[in-house]
Amino acid sequence: MVSLGTIFEYIIINCVTFLTANTVSQCQQKTFFRPYLFSIEQPGKDYMYISTVQGSVEFCVLECVRDPKCSSVLHNSRSQLCKLLRCLLTPAYIIPDTSENGLDYFVSEDECSDGWFRFEDHCYYNNLTDITWNEAENVCNHHGAYLVEINSSYENLWLDRELPNEERHRWIGATDILTEGQFLWSFSNTELNFENWRNGEPNNVNQKEHCAVIMKGGRWNDFKCYCSQAFICEKNLF
Ligand code: BGC
Ligand code: CA
Repeated sequence: MVSLGTIFEYIIINCVTFLTANTVSQCQQKTFFRPYLFSIEQPGKDYMYISTVQGSVEFCVLECVRDPKCSSVLHNSRSQLCKLLRCLLTPAYIIPDTSENGLDYFVSEDECSDGWFRFEDHCYYNNLTDITWNEAENVCNHHGAYLVEINSSYENLWLDRELPNEERHRWIGATDILTEGQFLWSFSNTELNFENWRNGEPNNVNQKEHCAVIMKGGRWNDFKCYCSQAFICEKNLF
């Protein structure tokens, strides 16, 4: 089993100034590291790419810093093409570096804390302890987080494919406990702008299913809130 982790090279950008509409933030130091092992296979999934730019690896990394969605870069030293990635390459992609293909992989150190995984500008935590939906929401709150709110097919795909899940059903933050049939994201109290129900769901079996789970494959089901399931917490990275 190979894994990410052994670091042998850094790119440090000493001063990055972030410009927003009406504020100029302070200079920040940003570090990118090259994992000892990285993929020589391209991820091959469109949803992982943000954009491609051309230039040196330093330029590539700087472009990544400027885009809050960017968490790592793939740079080709021969073609000088740089791909900005939304996600980290997970061990599924990791095979020993042969250095023959000219590819370099750098990861932004500006990452989520231990056990949390980054997608775009949020951190996610997969908890495989089976507890009720309410308990799960409390545990997330305790971590300064909330039950995951899934706002795009990219995010849904990432949760299913990239966030280790042991093929379990996991609570997400959607519930229709207040008004039957009207699912809301509980933390933001907003209507679902993206839905990924399995065919026939939500079906409110025995009128007792008011909390949603994401299942293997990424489809959703409404389920009894008082049953115990694993769950996913989400919080802002910044
Ligand atoms: C149904 C789901 C339901 C679940 C409850 C399944 O067979 O397809 O809709 O939530 O049973 O255990
Ligand atoms: Ca159901």
